[in-house]
Amino acid sequence: MEIIILKSAASVAAMGAELVQELIRVRPAAVLGLATGSTQLSLYQELVERYLNGEISFRQATSFNLDEYLGVAADDPQSYRAYMDREFFDRVDIDKRQTFLPVCEQGKNPVRVGPRYERKIREAGGIDLQILGIGANGHIGFNEPSSSLGSRTRIKTLTRQTCEDNSRFFKGDEFQPVLAITMGIATIMEARKILLLATGANKAGAVSEMIEGPLTAMCPASVLQMHEHVTVLLDEAAAGGLQNRDYYDWTRLQNESLQDRFGVFHDE
Ligand code: GLP
Repeated sequence: MEIIILKSAASVAAMGAELVQELIRVRPAAVLGLATGSTQLSLYQELVERYLNGEISFRQATSFNLDEYLGVAADDPQSYRAYMDREFFDRVDIDKRQTFLPVCEQGKNPVRVGPRYERKIREAGGIDLQILGIGANGHIGFNEPSSSLGSRTRIKTLTRQTCEDNSRFFKGDEFQPVLAITMGIATIMEARKILLLATGANKAGAVSEMIEGPLTAMCPASVLQMHEHVTVLLDEAAAGGLQNRDYYDWTRLQNESLQDRFGVFHDE
């Protein structure tokens, strides 16, 4: 894992956007794996600004989101589809027909959604860059603790903690779903590159378990220890629980000097 600790949440978003921009520069028709949640809001904001400045175009890109609530219609403002349209898709030049979420339409069998979504990702050539956040309990997508590390896109029941964490987005009388369809852990692990963003002190515990803890289904994000190309961007608060902090900063300096000498490495 490449662990980069930055001074603020704003720097995390700026560097995240930089990495997305770099990918789109070398591969304009990139397949992006996208995430929702409050951490990603400033990343999308940054990307929108870069698009408005003419620095980046998503015209040829395709996207697959990690997850979607079950029982919330796509046109409901609480759906992740609505979040993505509002925060990103409607504000850049991406072709919305090329943006996908694991949606289960009203009355359709949700069990069929997962395999179909997996097929669609494969047909698109797989995900080039998967963007992730992390739950305070270590979840990625909606893969809650105890999720199979070999799981595929499917229905998950959210933990009480996740429901409580996300209750801030729902008004008192509003329906808050407890079920979601999420890419599985094996699906996420197939992405060619992974970029995880975490900010704020409430993520410090999950972040240190992910990076320095044992590989365990009880911290689904710890599976990323097995992925070849993971970049983790943290602000100071989210990095607060790391034991090995000095080493990560030292490594970053070495990597920067390698990049100064040889440039950014891209697979041929
Ligand atoms: C949500 C999403 C995740 C997200 C995580 C953290 O419930 N399903 O994809 O990474 O929880 O969200 P936030 O960034 O709001 O803390």
